[in-house]
Amino acid sequence: MKHDGRTEVFGTDAVVPLWVADMDFAAPPAVTEALLARARHPVYGYTLYPDAAFDALMRWLAARHGWNVAREHIHFCPGVVPTLYAAVQAFTRPGDLVIVQPPVYPPFFSAVRDTGRRVAENPLIERDGRWTMDFDHLEGCAARAGAKLLLLCSPHNPVGRVWSHEELDRLLEIARRHDLVVLSDEIHADLLYPGVRHVPLATLTRPGDRVLTAVAPSKTFNIPGLGLSALIADDAERKAVEAAFGQLHVGASNPFSLAALEAAYRDGGPWLDALMRYLEATRDEVINTLAHRLPRIHAYAPEGTYLMWLDCRALGLDDAALRDLFVHDAGLGLNAGISFGSGGSGHMRLNLASPRAVIRDALERLRRATAHL
Ligand SMILES: Cc1ncc(COP(=O)(O)O)c(C=O)c1O
Repeated sequence: MKHDGRTEVFGTDAVVPLWVADMDFAAPPAVTEALLARARHPVYGYTLYPDAAFDALMRWLAARHGWNVAREHIHFCPGVVPTLYAAVQAFTRPGDLVIVQPPVYPPFFSAVRDTGRRVAENPLIERDGRWTMDFDHLEGCAARAGAKLLLLCSPHNPVGRVWSHEELDRLLEIARRHDLVVLSDEIHADLLYPGVRHVPLATLTRPGDRVLTAVAPSKTFNIPGLGLSALIADDAERKAVEAAFGQLHVGASNPFSLAALEAAYRDGGPWLDALMRYLEATRDEVINTLAHRLPRIHAYAPEGTYLMWLDCRALGLDDAALRDLFVHDAGLGLNAGISFGSGGSGHMRLNLASPRAVIRDALERLRRATAHL
């Protein structure tokens, strides 16, 4: 998609692709070996979710995030975006309100609008160069008639925040007061820069809280094309989403994605740690280069994920001109900020997960393209 989708998205394939959220890096060797081993067994029949897949995920969550999950609370499903759609169907009716926190990953909006629900925006706010949640505004959204569900992006794509214990506590408190269901999309949770800790929302809950969590090995190990994720929640909430998936008879597993998931969670830790050290150096270099050579573009240093949110407003361009500058003058394919909803205008999302030489070249292209402005 990253390469072949360029003409459709940018109108040309002459752009360095730094958009869709996957990485230009080979998956961990353990994943490739597991896939080859599975392929050598020449029976590719319907496959149940094996104990080994549950075990690998449970051990990973305990070791990486200090989160002990019961096996019965896990439901494997084909992706996090399908889970967003299923949760909207499970917990709301057409016309109800679903709260999202823009600027945010576009399917958070489409999961609501495509199914006839209404979006209630609780825009993030920027304070002293750091993005935070507007809790007073959130309280107002939660109090609106018909507000049923909050879609939380944690860590947040695109602003790169890894929400703190305190922030998540406050959010939960509001959800509790207004009986909101919260779906926490934690697909980026493993991609943490050294020294940063992710707090799974579910570890902060009290009995009666209605929280579901979506996790996946896809971003972490660069295997998103294999399509497998997990929903984790207590019985009532999980069964409601399972029923929504059941209406489309979605549930069958794929023997290859299972083999990859198991191997990644079991053996991929050192690969991930090395990846994050590499990405950290890239992130820091980009911030430094922008500050010194392209000061009209301001980058927010992500605490997690390889996506970087760039504030380009000081260039003084409207969104169409900004896009033209990136695509036609610089030859760069980044995600336009406006696709992330309110607050996205004048911004671009850069994918840092390419070899550093590619990122350096991108910054140099940008410097040349903006020199005359
Ligand atoms: C926040 C977020 N959720 C979900 C996804 C995609 O999930 P999946 O491929 O499992 O549907 C992405 C991909 O970029 C993402 O950034």
